[in-house]
Amino acid sequence: MQRKSLIVSGLALLGATGAPAALSAELTISCGAVGAELALCEEGVAAWEDETGHDVEIVSTPNSSTERLSLYQQILSAQSSDIDVMQIDVVWPGLLANHLLDLNEAIGEEAADGHFETIVANNTVDERLVAMPWFTDAGVLYYRTDLLEQHGFEAPETWEEMTAIAEEIQAAERADGNDQMWGYVFQGRAYEGLTCNALEWVASQGGGTLVDDGGEITIDNENAAAALDLAAGWIGDISPAGALNYTEEEARGVFQSGNAVFMRNWPYAWSLAQSEDSEVAGEVGVVKLPHGPNGDTAATLGGWNLAVSKYSENPELAAELVAFLTGEAEQKRRAIEGAYNPTIASLYEDEEVLTAVPFFGTLFETFTNAVARPSAPTGDNYGRVSNSFFNAIHSVLSGNMTGAEAVSQLDSELSRIKRRRW
Ligand code: GLC
Repeated sequence: MQRKSLIVSGLALLGATGAPAALSAELTISCGAVGAELALCEEGVAAWEDETGHDVEIVSTPNSSTERLSLYQQILSAQSSDIDVMQIDVVWPGLLANHLLDLNEAIGEEAADGHFETIVANNTVDERLVAMPWFTDAGVLYYRTDLLEQHGFEAPETWEEMTAIAEEIQAAERADGNDQMWGYVFQGRAYEGLTCNALEWVASQGGGTLVDDGGEITIDNENAAAALDLAAGWIGDISPAGALNYTEEEARGVFQSGNAVFMRNWPYAWSLAQSEDSEVAGEVGVVKLPHGPNGDTAATLGGWNLAVSKYSENPELAAELVAFLTGEAEQKRRAIEGAYNPTIASLYEDEEVLTAVPFFGTLFETFTNAVARPSAPTGDNYGRVSNSFFNAIHSVLSGNMTGAEAVSQLDSELSRIKRRRW
């Protein structure tokens, strides 16, 4: 069956005509395109087409979750029927629920049986299941097993240890002729990915989650300020200034070409870093993220879900596609081929899955205890809250504010958002 993928960049999708290039298929699904995401989506969709004889168009979306959200908000607020199935971030159900179908009705009450209950609860808004869990995510620390061994180090447990090891190996490697070598790469661009990284720094150093479960703003504290100052100190020391513009893929590019000792990323980077065309294949270790003296390791909860637009002209068929793609067979395939974390607990005991991605077993607790961004308590203000947060953090990393100034400013900004709206 002939399928073509449309590449949608930024907000160009709706274009002058208000519609993407004539979509003739019965259904259109938007998929992410980070790493191997698009290829895996295409394969899953093709399998469903072969099984059912239906015809599906795939639209790929921008890599930045922040840009994807703007795109979806624009499409949905125009009540456009152009996209039937949408890949939505774990922090969006509260923002988009009004535009999405109740999948319990469309697929059946047992739709999400066997999936992690916390994710099902996250995707349930006013008793409506607005998205099916597709894959979960949590931040992890990648490191070069060869370099750590060669220089006599174990994987670090604290941020201080990580910083010291990164400094030492970076200096030694540079002295040895690799002047491209950096100690640590992460996601420092002003976008949702920076919110995820900074939440990990703050939470793992006893600084809380910025807004607590009851909706109280907690960011203005010394531990949070110190966590941000520590991160700012990495720039130009163990992390390139360019990291201020890195998303997941830029960080992976540096690590995978052999030019970083440590990397913070999501599990998907594993399959690619271990693939044949990776410079570091066979030399990659994955452990939980470091923590500070006043806190425990904290991995931000990420993940993506599949939702059906209320404006779809083919909602029942769209829901069938969602059920297929989020089902056990597809989740297993995606775990093995792409290291996408299943949302079905039993797959974490599957031998083939564990052979392909051993840390799905060793870090199981990291995945089930990941720290949620405050999307539940801030409801449809989450987008504003996250924007304020990542912009303030970006200023600290850029050297324009201290950690203490940033958390105090954030406290005022978040209070203003809260007074008006949550
Ligand atoms: C990953 C996570 C997602 C998060 C994004 C930020 O895709 O799964 O939840 O918002 O990264 O860059």
